[in-house]
Amino acid sequence: MCGIIGYAGHRPAVPVVIEGLRRLEYRGYDSAGVAFSGHGNLHVVRATGKLAALEEKLAHEESVITPTCAMGHTRWATHGAPVERNAHPHCSNDGSLAMVHNGIIENFQELKVELVAKGYTFSSETDTEVLVNLIEERRKNAPDVLHAFAEALREAHGTYAVCLMDRAEPGVIYAARMSAPLIFGLGTGENFVASDIPAFLPFTRKVIFLEDGEIVRLTATTYEVLHLEDLRPKVHEIHTIAWDMQAAQKSGYRHFMLKEIFEQPRVILDGFAGRMHEGDVVLKELDALPVPRRLHIVACGTSYHSGLWGRHLLEHWAHVPVQVEIASEFRYREAVLFDKDDMVLVISQSGETADTLAALRAAKKCGVPVLGLCNVVGSSIAREASAVLYTQAGPEISVASTKAMCSQMLMLALMALYWARRNEGMTLQERRTTLALLAGLPDLLDAALPAMHQRARELSRKYAQTRNFFYLGRGHCYPLALEGALKLKELSYIHAEGYAAGEMKHGPIALIDPSFPTFVLALDDALLPKVVSNMVEVQARQGKVIALTNEGLDMHVEDIWEIPRLPSPLAGFVALPALQLFSYEVADYLGKDVDQPRNLAKSVTVE
Ligand code: M6R
Repeated sequence: MCGIIGYAGHRPAVPVVIEGLRRLEYRGYDSAGVAFSGHGNLHVVRATGKLAALEEKLAHEESVITPTCAMGHTRWATHGAPVERNAHPHCSNDGSLAMVHNGIIENFQELKVELVAKGYTFSSETDTEVLVNLIEERRKNAPDVLHAFAEALREAHGTYAVCLMDRAEPGVIYAARMSAPLIFGLGTGENFVASDIPAFLPFTRKVIFLEDGEIVRLTATTYEVLHLEDLRPKVHEIHTIAWDMQAAQKSGYRHFMLKEIFEQPRVILDGFAGRMHEGDVVLKELDALPVPRRLHIVACGTSYHSGLWGRHLLEHWAHVPVQVEIASEFRYREAVLFDKDDMVLVISQSGETADTLAALRAAKKCGVPVLGLCNVVGSSIAREASAVLYTQAGPEISVASTKAMCSQMLMLALMALYWARRNEGMTLQERRTTLALLAGLPDLLDAALPAMHQRARELSRKYAQTRNFFYLGRGHCYPLALEGALKLKELSYIHAEGYAAGEMKHGPIALIDPSFPTFVLALDDALLPKVVSNMVEVQARQGKVIALTNEGLDMHVEDIWEIPRLPSPLAGFVALPALQLFSYEVADYLGKDVDQPRNLAKSVTVE
């Protein structure tokens, strides 16, 4: 969702900004633009579509090589269509200020009324153009642009990460954040501000995670972080990023998604790092918290599916009752009835999902401890949670989440084992046996993934033209069915629905005919006989079935896909990449934009 980068330094700034935007492409966008100062003016160049269109336009701008300070933006439309006049940067009426913005200013219509009454005109439908003009207006009575910027932001309600350039200060960038990600990068003789670390990672690993209600003023050699409220200076810890650009590049794979699916064995290994001691799980982050009497898991999309999967383990192994809820529903519940010793677990790869962050804040307001399970270090959710567990999966670039789910599942399994120890839900021997199975997963997956990829490819050729799909599963396979359907629809735009297999006969089965296939998770577990009955019901309506199953089971279906056997629920770690690979292959075969599916953003920072 919208990518921002600002740069002040000693290099030609526009190429730095364009490359930074390219490294933010995974966030999804429909137009892009840059602003830079030169010859006493602010120049803005914008284009719809991909960055190549913007570069094409920049090639005709003669001053692009000279500036050493610039800012850029990739826009994912919220207010107004994805057309050039709505693309960022936006300028104030007198041309003195330019702004890029990620987020939504909720009261922009009211602010606009005031500005229109004062004679301001608008060429876009965006809230950003209102904000930049509000700064121009407030500057008339402010000592300087910094005070005007702060005053305008105090009047704006909503979410934002913004960068501002002033024609009068060619080497300066102002930036601020409120509930949208913004990270400050400190280089040598150059400074950066961006929505995410990869934007500037080739130049510096030193970062400051800006917080809500902060403004930064940066030049090539200086920076100040200030409180928005009263412009008091604020001192921040400087963090050093451990991962490098290699981790954020395709490394020979056709797409980031494929690379990330194949990274899952390594993700499991890394997830274990620092979490084992003397053959048992240690999660120091949880030591200070009581074992919850009841856990409320709150998340969106794939992270929500991880939560549904994790419930089985937490209840079965650790005897912790679990409720799982979608964050956009949880945040608006009129009354969530928490009991003493309840805990909320928010799961988010990005740590920036607006609904999940709002759910976290709502729960904290009720005085309930909130545990965050995040991948992105220093993200908003990670910082605001009472305690955070990092999934340690490395950067996930593809918009479709794959390895993040695997890492979340691992952490949920480790949490269940950890609380099982404290709750005496499992014996040491039982925990060790389970841990040995988990520890064997990387080798098992490394060996199995190439054949699974091949089978996914074969099946994709047969089913790519299908317009509808059901995914069915029971028990721990039900969340995986939901995830399989989500992956297929988001990547290939084929309508797919995930269902609890037992629920089919209560209505959905009416849709079954020979052109409507069903992907069934028919793994070798206690619920298999029930699943087989549901499969037979589908076949009785001439529905074709693909059964994802284990060797040696007697299945009479259209297509069988055998994967290595593991005891339930750990079998999910093998079923998951199969589902991901099938969706990947269908989408790639259909020529879809696998890493950046239409209409989607990696990090959903609006409601
Ligand atoms: O960053 P988060 O885990 O909070 O993101 C949640 C969802 O937006 C995300 O999982 C989304 O559903 C993905 N497109 C799934 O592939």
